[in-house]
Amino acid sequence: MPLLSVDELTVTFGGQGRKSNAVNGVSFDVDQGQVIGLVGESGCGKSVTSLALMGLLPRKGVEVGGRADFDGVNLLTMSQNEIRDMRGSQLAMIFQDPLSSLNPVIPIGIQVTEILQRHRGLKGEPARKEAAALLEKVGIPDPTRRLKEYPHQMSGGMRQRALIAMAVACAPRLLIADEPTTALDVTIQAQILELLKELVDQEGTALLMITHDLGVVAGLCDQVNVLYAGKVVESAGRRELFKHPTHPYTHGLLGSIPRLDAPRGEALSPIRGSINDRIAWADGCAFAPRCDRYELDCLSGPPGLSHPRAADHQVRCLHPVPQSTQPTEEVPA
Ligand SMILES: Nc1ncnc2c1ncn2[C@@H]1O[C@H](COP(=O)(O)OP(=O)(O)OP(=O)(O)O)[C@@H](O)[C@H]1O
Ligand code: SF4
Ligand SMILES: [Mg+2]
Repeated sequence: MPLLSVDELTVTFGGQGRKSNAVNGVSFDVDQGQVIGLVGESGCGKSVTSLALMGLLPRKGVEVGGRADFDGVNLLTMSQNEIRDMRGSQLAMIFQDPLSSLNPVIPIGIQVTEILQRHRGLKGEPARKEAAALLEKVGIPDPTRRLKEYPHQMSGGMRQRALIAMAVACAPRLLIADEPTTALDVTIQAQILELLKELVDQEGTALLMITHDLGVVAGLCDQVNVLYAGKVVESAGRRELFKHPTHPYTHGLLGSIPRLDAPRGEALSPIRGSINDRIAWADGCAFAPRCDRYELDCLSGPPGLSHPRAADHQVRCLHPVPQSTQPTEEVPA
């Protein structure tokens, strides 16, 4: 049984008459020690999915449907107290903006030791020692001094590391990282990704990596779910996905990023339109207004998942990209 099994998750905002579906039936599994990617353009529902799993969406004006079984228990039907207990002890999340996730008026050390006290019962000197050890583990130099600093005294990379230390402090079984490196420069980005990889390899943590960056996916994820307008449109192992992108949207995403092996001067081919050019899934394929492979039957209802290549490669498309036009992308090991 997977550690987390998300089945037909839906999130609808708004009351009578003005409802908007941010997540439209998302399903995926995460095993222990596995890195699962959730990738897609801005506004496709990545953060709303993670907030729903963590029980962090407001309860008023939001309808959440489907299941998210964590160790066999549905996170979506837990009371606020129950899910709060799960957060920290079993589930942790790293948010995109470290500054807004840290308390600006409390030194980092107190923020880390509070977590250690709450989740591991450590107090006083043992808690301070463990907090310093955690900062050292995530590569923060001179951790004893850093513990006394306030968030604004640290660089963006240091703050993100401190947040990772706080996530590691409770040794979560599942860590959700929502664009943890977007605000950072590439060198720091690589270090943070390495750190997350170590956490997965050494502690067996399950990592749900949320990103719009296919580079992050290529370097880190075992399995990748491509999200479009709140639905998974393609799901495959990372090597398979990069070598054989089969949904026109995934194909377009890969065609719109620079490649080192591309002939000199070759233009990138961005996907036309924006995520706002879409139709409701109930009426057909939401990607239809932007799709070069569109045919009339694409508007005959929501396309189901099929396996045009392999059993573990799922694609939600009536006219998947044929093999002859696939890019042969080199995928990092
Ligand atoms: N509180 C809210 N009320 C109404 N709509 C919302 C709310 N929060 C998010 N949405 C909508 O839900 C959709 C998905 O938003 P979400 O934040 O999950 O996107 P995302 O994939 O995380 O994008 P980004 O890459 O920009 O972070 C968007 O259309 C957004 O406008
Ligand atoms: S179902 Fe049709 S519109 Fe949707 S991605 Fe496939 S070909 Fe394009
Ligand atoms: Mg987001």
